[in-house]
Amino acid sequence: MTHVDLAALGESFTRDPYPVYARLRSQGPVHRIRMPEGNAEAWLVVGYEAGRAALADPRLSKDWSKASPDLVLRPPSAGPHMLRVDPPHHTRLRKLVAREFTPRRVAELVPRVQKTTDELIDALLDAPDGRADLVEALSFPLPISVICDLLGVPDLDRTSFRGWSNEALTATDQADRTAAATALAGYLAELVDDKRHHPGDDLMSALIHGSDEDGDGLGPGELLGMAWLLLIAGHETTVNLISNGVLALLTHPDQLAALRADLSRTERAVEEMLRYDGPVETPTYRFTTEPLTLAGTEIPGGGELVLVALADANRDPARFPAPDRFDLTRDARGHVAFGHGIHYCLGAPLARLEARIAVRTLLERCGGLALDIHPAAITWRPGMLIRGPYSLPVRVGP
Ligand code: HEM
Repeated sequence: MTHVDLAALGESFTRDPYPVYARLRSQGPVHRIRMPEGNAEAWLVVGYEAGRAALADPRLSKDWSKASPDLVLRPPSAGPHMLRVDPPHHTRLRKLVAREFTPRRVAELVPRVQKTTDELIDALLDAPDGRADLVEALSFPLPISVICDLLGVPDLDRTSFRGWSNEALTATDQADRTAAATALAGYLAELVDDKRHHPGDDLMSALIHGSDEDGDGLGPGELLGMAWLLLIAGHETTVNLISNGVLALLTHPDQLAALRADLSRTERAVEEMLRYDGPVETPTYRFTTEPLTLAGTEIPGGGELVLVALADANRDPARFPAPDRFDLTRDARGHVAFGHGIHYCLGAPLARLEARIAVRTLLERCGGLALDIHPAAITWRPGMLIRGPYSLPVRVGP
């Protein structure tokens, strides 16, 4: 085990964390780190086997009341939700949403996802001078419009919501995070209240009014937590799958050409995009509930923070040969971009659907798509949770 100060690595770690993780992995699976935010220490798990084992370890809790009081980083929320609770509370919440967030509901979204993608690409092709920011033009508006549709909040104030959501997750200053979260929680409370009085055929209405066979339903705080989680998850992740995936294609012309030649391979390509440069670098926090030995390293109990580097698990050569190569022909299944264990991403089918339609339609309609910035000049979102560029300048053409 080594002790490494990730904060001292600054911008270079944000831009390209992969070699740093790989170096740590070559020394062992568990390390003590100072986080890039600089104000917290954590245990970082690298590698595929150790990462999966930690994600499925019931001795690691997601309950913030178990966190050490010394931990100053406190990600906000509007209420209890699945990524902040353990079984049996987690089991109950997941069951209540899984009965409503069904494959049928996702499948029903296909025509809508295609239509929205088509309209966004129409506008992209009309961009002045044939230049645009792909994040603004496609990666951001597509998932947000889909999640708003699914939840039944078409009139969401997207600009405000995006600002609050971005700040609440990645602002480096805790006061800024809290202020954004408070604004967001207030806004969500109004949304839920409005839905309560004007229900529709949407997921949020179903969650408000639904209950299981025992008559159990979500309480008021749980509804806010659920709306918070679904909107933020629908907001902050798929956007980066589209951006990171398109960036990988544009920086690997041979792979791009091969995919263009056979777009029926898009489904497989999206799995490699998730593996190679997924949107979630290290997922949400886990806390020790007792002293434990994790992959040979002893970690104290008492709410120590444990982070799992999904980004590194997906680049472990013991699982994926030549892992730093973006290779659309490889079998990328088994990647952990959506996590592993009981908290495995609930929105994975939706995220995959959106990315497949977005990438395929983009390549079909923009024959001249090219990067309009040197890859090294791209500015990446800070922190270890979300990996994605703030903007992705591209040149477009049919
Ligand atoms: C490419 C896009 C996405 C990626 C890479 C992603 C990734 C993840 C990961 C890694 C986790 C596990 C977190 C942990 O264990 O700490 C997770 C959980 C979750 N995701 Fe996603 N996600 C994506 C899109 C979505 C979408 C679109 C939704 C909803 C519409 C969603 C809803 C959720 C929920 C509700 C959970 C919590 C599940 C639980 O705790 O049981 N995600 N996601």
